Amino acid sequence: MAQLAVNIGALSLKNPVMTASGTFGYGYEFADFVDLNRLGGFIVKGTTLRPREGNDYPRMAETTGGMLNCVGLQNKGVDYFCRHIYPRLVDYDTNVLVNVSGSSPEDYAACAERIAALEHIPAIELNISCPNVRDGGMAFGVTTEGAASVVKAVRKAYHKTLIVKLSPNVTSITDIARAVEAEGADAVSLINTLMGMSVDIERRQSRLSIGTGGLSGPCVNPVALRMVWQVAKAVHIPIVGLGGICTAEDAIEFLMCGATAVEIGTANFLDPAVTMKVIDGINAWCDAHGVEDIHDIIGALHD
Ligand SMILES: Cc1cc2nc3c(=O)[nH]c(=O)nc-3n(C[C@H](O)[C@H](O)[C@H](O)COP(=O)(O)O)c2cc1C
Repeated sequence: MAQLAVNIGALSLKNPVMTASGTFGYGYEFADFVDLNRLGGFIVKGTTLRPREGNDYPRMAETTGGMLNCVGLQNKGVDYFCRHIYPRLVDYDTNVLVNVSGSSPEDYAACAERIAALEHIPAIELNISCPNVRDGGMAFGVTTEGAASVVKAVRKAYHKTLIVKLSPNVTSITDIARAVEAEGADAVSLINTLMGMSVDIERRQSRLSIGTGGLSGPCVNPVALRMVWQVAKAVHIPIVGLGGICTAEDAIEFLMCGATAVEIGTANFLDPAVTMKVIDGINAWCDAHGVEDIHDIIGALHD
């Protein structure tokens, strides 16, 4: 068995496989399908300072090779999370991360500060990239100044491991990655969903209530891989890669392009036990290829 443990900032993962926010609930909903303790970690639903109702229905549409969503960060707010959800998560022997969103730098920082007080949450993932929030969620992730302003505010309030999740809906993802690194991010994760659209031609209407949504699943995989590869050459902090990962081979592609860990998102909807298969598959691939330590394949792509 290969050595699969990796570190992201101060976070130690027993293997590089985590789940992506918004696709794995609060984790415990998957406990019948997955031994959660075998995961490197899981990242819970997007959490905001105040409760959010999300967008109107319909907010999901299937596409070729993926899906669109405009859920819009529906959640009951950070205080509800701390009081009612967190106690259900404290006994898992894995890393539980909270994905944090907001509408202003102060909002993000206040939410992060509340989560910092929770002993068993070792890290947050800052979602500066959600394409579904009209009042600013997108704006922060698409300019270097916007991204930097959020990270700067959160870094002051949050001293555990800070992972910043990047939007692919930008011209230069490397510029944004460098900007958040400069403000003290411990790691970056990428990619969030790609802005997309789907039309019902009989009704002459978008299939999504707000017109557009975020594209995810296997169809975004090559875009995500390209961005991870570019960002790996641009920053010195660890990268968490995601976008369309369905198999161990997909995950290994991300590791070879420079990701230290990966997240699995939409694939959980197709097969709720996919994460276990990916972990077993990475182990089997390493054994079959004489790889004793996962670090031997991280960033190991030949020129
Ligand atoms: C239904 C749904 C809800 C999502 N909610 C969030 C969220 O709350 N916060 C976030 O950072 N990303 C969210 N995402 C984006 C995913 O975490 C992930 O970045 C994206 O789907 C790409 O990975 P995948 O192709 O493996 O799904 C959501 C994705 C889906 C499909």
